[in-house]
Amino acid sequence: MAYSAKIGPSILSSDLSCLGSECVRMMECGADYLHLDVMDGHFVPNITFGHPMVECLRKSIGQDPFFDMHMMVSRPEQWVKPMAAAGANQYTFHLEATTNPGNLIKEIKESGMKVGLAIKPGTTVEELAPWANHIDMALVMTVEPGFGGQKFLEDMMPKVSWLRSQFPSLDIEVDGGVGPDTIHKCAEAGANMIVSGSAVVSSDDPRSVIALLRTVVAEAIQKRSLDR
Ligand code: DX5
Ligand code: ZN
Repeated sequence: MAYSAKIGPSILSSDLSCLGSECVRMMECGADYLHLDVMDGHFVPNITFGHPMVECLRKSIGQDPFFDMHMMVSRPEQWVKPMAAAGANQYTFHLEATTNPGNLIKEIKESGMKVGLAIKPGTTVEELAPWANHIDMALVMTVEPGFGGQKFLEDMMPKVSWLRSQFPSLDIEVDGGVGPDTIHKCAEAGANMIVSGSAVVSSDDPRSVIALLRTVVAEAIQKRSLDR
């Protein structure tokens, strides 16, 4: 089995005036990667930051942390090159935001980044499926994108299960309302890349939360491999 359990804190819920030290804190607490939420106030009703912030973060915290850019933006085509130049590792765009996913996937690969493809709760997994063999990761949103701290949508889990059954070695990420109370559902469905914002960042003990999330997912992966 090609995939493994990876935990990526979303720093959206952290003290944004200390973003660099918050990222370092998450990595020191055992994060496998960092999930950076880019919002443009148009694709979603909220606004965060863009590639200049990513460039500063990369300079400040070094080459090691893997940056998964969750691009909640209209016209995602326009930020591929600036994000690659800023030091992003993976460019995760929304299927709903583009009319030409095939071309965008090609451009992201040519720029040297990995490709993530995200779907909102209202988008079916069948719409993502034709692209699944051309991407590195599928992101199944478990809240409406735009804000941290929302309630986990359990009825997204059949999408994850279906993707896992059809694409056994694909990285599948879940994002939104994921924490110790909801991780079992995600792990059983077959997600292996876990974004967790408020549950990790606002915890008194983020190290234990990250370790718990990883253990639950790793156990589900092991069980699935034994069942095969
Ligand atoms: C929501 C963002 C998420 C968010 C997750 O649009 O994509 O990454 O920060 O935060 P929690 O885990 O608090 O729902
Ligand atoms: Zn996100």
